[in-house]
Amino acid sequence: MNAPDHRPNGAAQAGLFTPLRLDRGLTLANRLAVAPMTRVSATEDGRATPQMADYYAAFAAGGFGLVITEGIYTDRAHAQGYLFQPGLTDDAQRDAWRTVVDRVHAHGGRIIAQLMHAGALSQGNPHRGATKGPSAVLPKGRQMTFYRGDGPYRMPEAMSDEDIAEAIEGFAQAARRAQEAGFDGVEIHGANGYLLDQFLTAHTNLRADRYGGSLENRLRLTVEVIGAVRRATGQRFIVGVRSSQGKVNDFTHKWEGGETDAAQIYRGLGAQPIDYLHTTEFEAWRPAFGDQGPSLAALARRHVAVPVLANGSLHDPLQADGVMARMEADFVSLGRGALTHADWPARLRAGTGFEAFDRGVLAPIADLANAARHREERHCASGNGTSAQDPD
Ligand SMILES: Cc1cc2nc3c(=O)[nH]c(=O)nc-3n(C[C@H](O)[C@H](O)[C@H](O)COP(=O)(O)O)c2cc1C
Repeated sequence: MNAPDHRPNGAAQAGLFTPLRLDRGLTLANRLAVAPMTRVSATEDGRATPQMADYYAAFAAGGFGLVITEGIYTDRAHAQGYLFQPGLTDDAQRDAWRTVVDRVHAHGGRIIAQLMHAGALSQGNPHRGATKGPSAVLPKGRQMTFYRGDGPYRMPEAMSDEDIAEAIEGFAQAARRAQEAGFDGVEIHGANGYLLDQFLTAHTNLRADRYGGSLENRLRLTVEVIGAVRRATGQRFIVGVRSSQGKVNDFTHKWEGGETDAAQIYRGLGAQPIDYLHTTEFEAWRPAFGDQGPSLAALARRHVAVPVLANGSLHDPLQADGVMARMEADFVSLGRGALTHADWPARLRAGTGFEAFDRGVLAPIADLANAARHREERHCASGNGTSAQDPD
């Protein structure tokens, strides 16, 4: 987002406002979802706060049919990625989420919990000292300072069979708690360089067992997690999966086998009991490989029968509408667009226009307290608080 966008609402965008019926009896009021966004604003012991309930409720009040939460850690072994990240590892954490869920539901929104195991990218975990991943491979890049990290990542230990079983069980039990808290579903975080993606990625997975080597083996952990989550939650609960090529510590990574890998990965996931597939790229409409060819969302849609949720710079309404109109996706999720305007859908409908994303809301720490402070300062500086500037 570089310049404020004041385009009026075009009739073409009407498609974004049609309901979407997912399997298992869940209907979304429209095709607009809030993308999962870590805000490191929970209590130290991982409970969601009233401030988080306000934050999530605002998206539903603003017209988003679906809210996907930030990545929630799934066990008290090696899953937690960030200090002040919320969890779903005990009854207190589960009960804290109930308020968030109820507030979103009160506005007619639906809410899905994203379940995340950080693996080798964990940079703040009070439960364990060491990090663990598929293999002892030093992660690329550096820890994220806006999540309170500093310096290079730590060298992870390779997970044992027991560690893997514990991680799978963590996803299953966290999903069960999400269901008990009233969530409409869970999204298994298989993307962005976290544990499941570390297993999928050849250069971070050097294992010689049934979880390493071939693409089928590298996808096995994700498949097993899906199965365990489905068994723990039964047949009437939404289970989605998020998939990406890029990683938080390696934005430009591409699958070595190009479209062939995409076909195998998406057919493999599509054969599991999932209800939607969430793809993310920097710009969702761009070719997934090279200068031409289908987008990642389009490839997903080609190979799975369930609805595809596309993510990536779709705060441009014409692009959001385009991926829908070209049938590359069934619904779209917005990250920065939703952060800029919690009422993005209502604004699109009304033709009110959009302001540019302001990275200042995530600096120096990407939490809700900092965002509130930043907005207040800008409000004072501008006299009315309505201007926004992208530092880029
Ligand atoms: C502050 C912030 C936190 C994020 N945290 C997560 C997360 O917890 N889980 C996840 O899958 N993606 C996370 N993302 C990625 C977003 O879901 C989304 O893919 C990204 O913002 C690109 O979408 P956009 O172009 O609409 O902003 C995060 C993004 C931002 C800006």
